Amino acid sequence: MKIISTPAEIASWSVEHHAAGETISLVPTMGFFHEGHLQLMRQARALADLSVVSLFVNPIQFGPGEDLDRYPRDFPRDASLAEQEGVEVLFAPEAGTMYPAPALTRIQVSQLTEYLCGADRPGHFDGVCTVVAKLFNLIKPEYAVFGRKDYQQLAVIRRMVSDLNWDVLVVDHPIVRETDGLAMSSRNKYLSISERQTALCLSRAIRLARRMVREGLRDCAEMLSGLKKMIATDDSARIEYLMVVDKGSLIPQSIITPDSLLALAVRVGSTRLIDNTVLFDDEE
Ligand code: PAF
Repeated sequence: MKIISTPAEIASWSVEHHAAGETISLVPTMGFFHEGHLQLMRQARALADLSVVSLFVNPIQFGPGEDLDRYPRDFPRDASLAEQEGVEVLFAPEAGTMYPAPALTRIQVSQLTEYLCGADRPGHFDGVCTVVAKLFNLIKPEYAVFGRKDYQQLAVIRRMVSDLNWDVLVVDHPIVRETDGLAMSSRNKYLSISERQTALCLSRAIRLARRMVREGLRDCAEMLSGLKKMIATDDSARIEYLMVVDKGSLIPQSIITPDSLLALAVRVGSTRLIDNTVLFDDEE
């Protein structure tokens, strides 16, 4: 596996391989790999001739007081895991080369960013879109693979790609869970043993919501009040949002439909965790 650390070098690598008629898939990440990332890499490898994983803790998607400085990092372990997955290139730039100062440009997707994490984390998706746009411009992948755990991120990136006429197919991958249901996330590393137990309230809420739907409940307010009660039984869990939205527009709904997405963000201690489910899908 080749490790590339500058935008100029990854851009010329991409030009060279496209000229040889090869296709490229990209998995954008912030590192500290877990099984969820490894599954994205496997999917990326199956899609194209060559796969690139980017590893960059993108400073401009973190707000003031968020966890940029303590975001978990372990480059040697990540490099070895990516290599074991058969990835061709690990692109790991420094912030200074990605954003030669001052970085004045941001890409903003409106409407889809109005609720959920977009409401809680002002500017977050501008930072995500800007870095993903830069990665697409540098690497020009035919495919880019993202996890569904960050459902809003996936929707926003798909819209950016379509609005800006990029020739890249955005491929999504199901949420990968621990055996007890907790959605895998690099931020799970922050959890103490007792917080790890509390964190199960997110996947429990999802299972309860899906059961309510199977039993015929269609009123969102009733569902959300039941879920809030369940989460509130542990006072180290603080709901940041808990919403039913349309899975396409991400606008809140009052009645559950086949297009309903339940999404939640819960703070457990100082750790913010997210999860979601399309309530009628039977795969999760
Ligand atoms: O999902 C992430 O890890 C990040 O938001 C991404 C897409 C790599 C952009 O920094």
